[in-house]
Amino acid sequence: MSSVVGESQREFHYGQQDFEAVRALLYQLTGIRLADSKDSMVYSRLARRLRALKKASFPDYLAYLNTHPAEEELFINALTTNLTSFFREPHHFDVLRAYLTAHPETRQIWCAASSTGEEPYSIAMIVAEHFGRFDTHVKIIASDIDSNVLRQAEQGIYHFDRIKGLPEQRCKQFFFKGKGARAGYVKVVPELRAMVEFRQLNLLSPNWSVKGPLDIIFCRNVMIYFDRPTQLTILERMVKLLSKNGLYIAGHSENFSHASHLVKPAGNTTYQPNYIGR
Ligand SMILES: C[S@@+](CC[C@H](N)C(=O)[O-])C[C@H]1O[C@@H](n2cnc3c(N)ncnc32)[C@H](O)[C@@H]1O
Repeated sequence: MSSVVGESQREFHYGQQDFEAVRALLYQLTGIRLADSKDSMVYSRLARRLRALKKASFPDYLAYLNTHPAEEELFINALTTNLTSFFREPHHFDVLRAYLTAHPETRQIWCAASSTGEEPYSIAMIVAEHFGRFDTHVKIIASDIDSNVLRQAEQGIYHFDRIKGLPEQRCKQFFFKGKGARAGYVKVVPELRAMVEFRQLNLLSPNWSVKGPLDIIFCRNVMIYFDRPTQLTILERMVKLLSKNGLYIAGHSENFSHASHLVKPAGNTTYQPNYIGR
C-alpha cells in the first residue's frame, strides 16, 4: 500500500483491508470506483470523521456507519472529488449558445454533477446573455450527490480568485463584491441564483427526480469515476430523457464511442441521442 503519511505517523491504524472495505462501500453507495492510488486520500479524509465521532479505528467507524444511515451522507461527502470552475471547458458554452440560437424552444437543461455551482451558474450566465434577461422560459436543474457542495452552490458565494479569469462585464453583471468581513468574496446576484434549481440526486439511484424531455444534459467529469457498466446504465437513462434534438455534453476525458447504440458524436465531447438504436 503506497502512503503519503508514513504508517508510524498515522493516528489510526490503516491497512489494505480498511481501504478495501471503504472502497467497496463507496462503490455500492455511489458507483465511484477508487483507484489503488487513492488509499492515502481515503485515510486523510476519513480520519476526520473518526476523530469527530471519537472512533478508535476504521473497523469501529465502518460498524458505526452500518448502524447509522445518516452517517452515509457524511461518508460520501468526505470521499467525492469536487474539482470544478466557472466556464470549465469553454467550448461547451459556445455549443450551448449555438444551441439556444438554433432551438429557441429550449425548455430544460440538466447539470447532473454540479459540484459547488460554478458549472450551472456558467450555464445560467449564457442563457441570460442569450435572452438579454434573467427571467426566461429555460429551467436549469443542477444536481449532485454531495450535500456539502450543494449547500455551497445554493449560497453562491465564491472566493474572488474563482472569477478572476472572467471578462469584466460578466463579473459586474452577475456578481456582487463582498465588503467588510466579506471582502475577497463575491456572491452571484439573486436573479442568476433564481435561474438554477438545485437538488440532491445520486446518479446511481433508480429514481431520479429529474424528468424529461430535456434539451441538454451537462454530465461532465463524473462518469470517469464509474466503471463501464455503470456508465452505460446512466447514459442510457439520460438519453431516454433527452428530446430528439437534445445534446449530451461530456467531460474532456469521457468518450462514448463504445456506446454508439445510444449516442452519436456531435462535436467535441458532445453527443446526440442515437434514435436508430432507441
Ligand atoms: C469532478 S466534479 C465535476 C464537476 C463539474 N461537472 C465539472 O465538470 O466541473 C464531480 C462531481 O460528481 C459528483 N458525483 C460523484 N458521484 C456521484 C453520483 N453517484 N451521483 C451524483 N453526483 C456524483 C461529485 O460529488 C462531484 O461534485
